[in-house]
Amino acid sequence: MTTTANLAYVEQGQGIPVVLLHGFPLNGSIWHDQARSLSDQFHTVMPDLRGHGGSPAPDGNYDMPLMARDVLALMDKLGIEKAVIMGHSMGGYVTLAAWALAPERFLALGLISSHAWADTEEVRQNRFTTAERVFVQGSSVVSDSMLPRLFAPTLAPDDPIIDQTRTIILGTPPRGVIGSLRGMAARPDSSELLAHISVPVLVLTGDADAIIPPVRAEEMAKRVPNVTLITVENAGHMPMLEQPQATALAMRTFLVEQVLRREG
Ligand code: MLT
Repeated sequence: MTTTANLAYVEQGQGIPVVLLHGFPLNGSIWHDQARSLSDQFHTVMPDLRGHGGSPAPDGNYDMPLMARDVLALMDKLGIEKAVIMGHSMGGYVTLAAWALAPERFLALGLISSHAWADTEEVRQNRFTTAERVFVQGSSVVSDSMLPRLFAPTLAPDDPIIDQTRTIILGTPPRGVIGSLRGMAARPDSSELLAHISVPVLVLTGDADAIIPPVRAEEMAKRVPNVTLITVENAGHMPMLEQPQATALAMRTFLVEQVLRREG
């Protein structure tokens, strides 16, 4: 499978392009609040990665470079030569794959609740087992397993973002879930790339992230030459939903200080 998928996307605002990539197994709507906040100064583009949201869900393994090529093809289609590309979790793995493929397309890079290392063998085997269960039982397998760990323990059990996230996950077709699980399992260690990222990098983490602990963000920040490290308080793995304003402010501050002032 080498052809690029024609990704569904939402765009907002005008200015320097900022492409926001969602994590697994979500869609571009998770960035709604940040896009609204940034769109007075930036052109935000929120694709649904292949197999998610309104994008096609072809059969096969969704390797990170394959998903990255879809995003670069969307930038081509929109006439965007260079952009800030930021990714949440799996979207961060895709962002690093895009950097490896086409660093010249980046103005800056963001890794939100993400990391640069490969899976351990245990995590990889868990992904294969989960993929088999999703094949039989559907996407509820991942909403059941992920939801209890996605948010900070301080989040009220009736907070609407829990249902919102469940609905998004259940809307992700099993083919998309399985393709992504297999793609993530196949990804190599990208940590050696970090020292060579020549554009400004935002590393943002939630202080209560149980899926990718904040120490990963600190480890990455030590390796990146031009880094802004932000820890969002009272946030788990979904800072853009749990603390939308603090997350938007951190993104805006980074974009204004590290991109707008340099480019503008
Ligand atoms: C995500 O949020 O994208 C995933 O949890 C990442 C992963 O499973 O490694």
